[in-house]
Amino acid sequence: MASKRGDVSNELYLPNKIIQENAFVKTMDEYRKLYKRSVESPEIFWKEIADEFYWKTEKKGKFFSYNFDISKGPVYVEWMKGSSTNTCYNLLDRNVIEKGFGDRIAYYWEGNDPDDHATITYKELLRNVCKFANVLKGKGVKKEDCVAIYLPMIMEVVVAMLACSRIGAIHSVIFGGFSAQSLAQRILDAKCTVLITADGVWRGTKLLNLKETVDEAYKICKENGHHMKASIVVKHLGPPESKEDHLKKITQQAKRPVYDLKTPWNPDIDCWWHEEMNRANDICEPEWVDAENPLFILYTSGSTGKPKGVVHTTGGYLLYAATTFKYVFDYHPGDIYFCTADVGWITGHTYVVYGPLAQGATSVMFEGLPFHPHPGRYWEIIDKYRVTKFYTAPTAVRALMKYGDSHVTKYDRSSLKILGSVGEPINPEAWLWYHKIVGNEQCSIVDTFWQTETGGHVLTPLPGCTPTKPGSATFPFFGVVPALLNDEGKEIQGPGEGYLVFKKPWPGMMRTIYKSHERFETTYFEKFIGYYCTGDGARRDEDGYYWVTGRVDDMLNVSGHLLSTAQVESALIEHKAVSETAVVSHPHSVKGECLYAFIVLKEGYQFNSDVEKELRAKVRSKIGPFASPEFLHHTSGLPKTRSGKIMRRILRKIARNDRDLGDLSTLADPQVVDELYKTRPKNI
Ligand code: WT7
Repeated sequence: MASKRGDVSNELYLPNKIIQENAFVKTMDEYRKLYKRSVESPEIFWKEIADEFYWKTEKKGKFFSYNFDISKGPVYVEWMKGSSTNTCYNLLDRNVIEKGFGDRIAYYWEGNDPDDHATITYKELLRNVCKFANVLKGKGVKKEDCVAIYLPMIMEVVVAMLACSRIGAIHSVIFGGFSAQSLAQRILDAKCTVLITADGVWRGTKLLNLKETVDEAYKICKENGHHMKASIVVKHLGPPESKEDHLKKITQQAKRPVYDLKTPWNPDIDCWWHEEMNRANDICEPEWVDAENPLFILYTSGSTGKPKGVVHTTGGYLLYAATTFKYVFDYHPGDIYFCTADVGWITGHTYVVYGPLAQGATSVMFEGLPFHPHPGRYWEIIDKYRVTKFYTAPTAVRALMKYGDSHVTKYDRSSLKILGSVGEPINPEAWLWYHKIVGNEQCSIVDTFWQTETGGHVLTPLPGCTPTKPGSATFPFFGVVPALLNDEGKEIQGPGEGYLVFKKPWPGMMRTIYKSHERFETTYFEKFIGYYCTGDGARRDEDGYYWVTGRVDDMLNVSGHLLSTAQVESALIEHKAVSETAVVSHPHSVKGECLYAFIVLKEGYQFNSDVEKELRAKVRSKIGPFASPEFLHHTSGLPKTRSGKIMRRILRKIARNDRDLGDLSTLADPQVVDELYKTRPKNI
């Protein structure tokens, strides 16, 4: 369905003239020319970019090859296979030695507490990475071993990731908000034996005891016959003081938060980061690896409930992270770039670490939360560091909007040029607030659509040339060929709505699911033969703009984090009182979507506030706090088809109190539906 002319969201916003004058791509004609070349001659287009990087050996001949058609044999994608390089070398040594950027600041680190900050230059980063690479070697880590990283947003996380890359090991970063069970599940899947963590971290006024969670995860690993060899622990919290004193200090905005966690210690495997680093040599030759060697695994939710270890490789990912960062943020030397994402997610990988460092950029890395100690924190940081490019999620924009404009306008934001959005569709209202209030109508907004699987932006405006429409991710990035398919798998031409798929590979796309290539093929290439299937729906309007409408599978997006309903259901069903459960999404004004869980109890159990608490605790401990359901709806039964399949379509309507249920002919017991409308939770 095409959008109506005159909609607020169909208004065109032209790029700011000053941004346009200095931009890499200045007009839509230039974009179209470059785009055409990128899809018609990908070898030439990407080879020119590859030439900006260092290759130890370069194989002549075929630059890339692939098969998307599962009926013709295994699905695969390869870029520059047979050439060798090292990602860490390209990010650090190349910038320090070849380009002379050694004294350039790589990161301004801004702590949870506004008075806690630090900087690190490219040269210092390189030295630390070499040392830590030697520490890892000392722990027995070898090429292609998988190393788990469970760290907060501190500079050691970058050091740890790049040290892995330097020695050809594969990192698996696990978001610090994941519970012990989720952590254990990921350690077990990749058989990691070395893990890097910290004693703890303050998130606002909340203390997370990371090391304790790690130890709990190890117990689970042990029960599953897996034994860890080493934990390297960053001492982040400093010398002891009482928790009460500390909380007093936080509210007074004092220096580095400190608090002795009485960190649990197992001398057989635990060691302190700083002690190891003090002893380590600072020379470490990079390990030259094939362009197609894995660089990292990052887990993303799967619709079966079991997370998928998305694998990204060395050469293609480097090219793609560097190129999307350069064009989408129109990066120029002197820019100060600030991406608020946690390194535990793909945005943190590509746009806090790999993309910016590949371009020799200076970034702000932020440990804390947007509301701590006040809801103007992001804008205060922008003012403090004179940030020029800022990248955050719609959920943060919506949450900050609620506090009113004065928290924004009291800070100087005149340095800003580009404002990015990622993680979920941005509603026009939030887009306009971002543009008018945060950007003072001087900035280009880039609504970037992509996925853990795509490695980098795939649909996005370019800030100096694309006229934008609030809520549209606009057009494909170089090398990306989108299509919309109908239910029969036929391509829709012109305006229309359908399944969003991609017809050709781009260098940064995932290569496989770790140790599960078959699942890779069935998840992404089976539904529509010959296409990579995103799992999202999208609309193309009469001007060719893409509007991503959201997931078309059982995934939902809470504050920009993908979750599968199955994953949450399997946590809830573990509660002894639960006989059946179904989780659906419900719109939420800040989070975008939230979880709405239907609960059927076993005979003899009562639904009360204790059960509610326990159910939420189950989800928190199995997955993490961010997955806790907003609404719990107790019912005596669920609507099912005659063949016993839960009718989620109906449950989604009930959650929204929408009475327009459509065709109910397959429903086995219509009475259940009446009951469900009557028993909706009171807190909604
Ligand atoms: C899913 C991927 C990409 C990094 C963060 C999330 C949704 C992401 C947008 C956007 C509309 C978006 C999609 C996608 N999504 N960005 N700009 N507009 N939807 O990575 O956890 O792999 O989630 O996030 O549904 O499939 P992820």
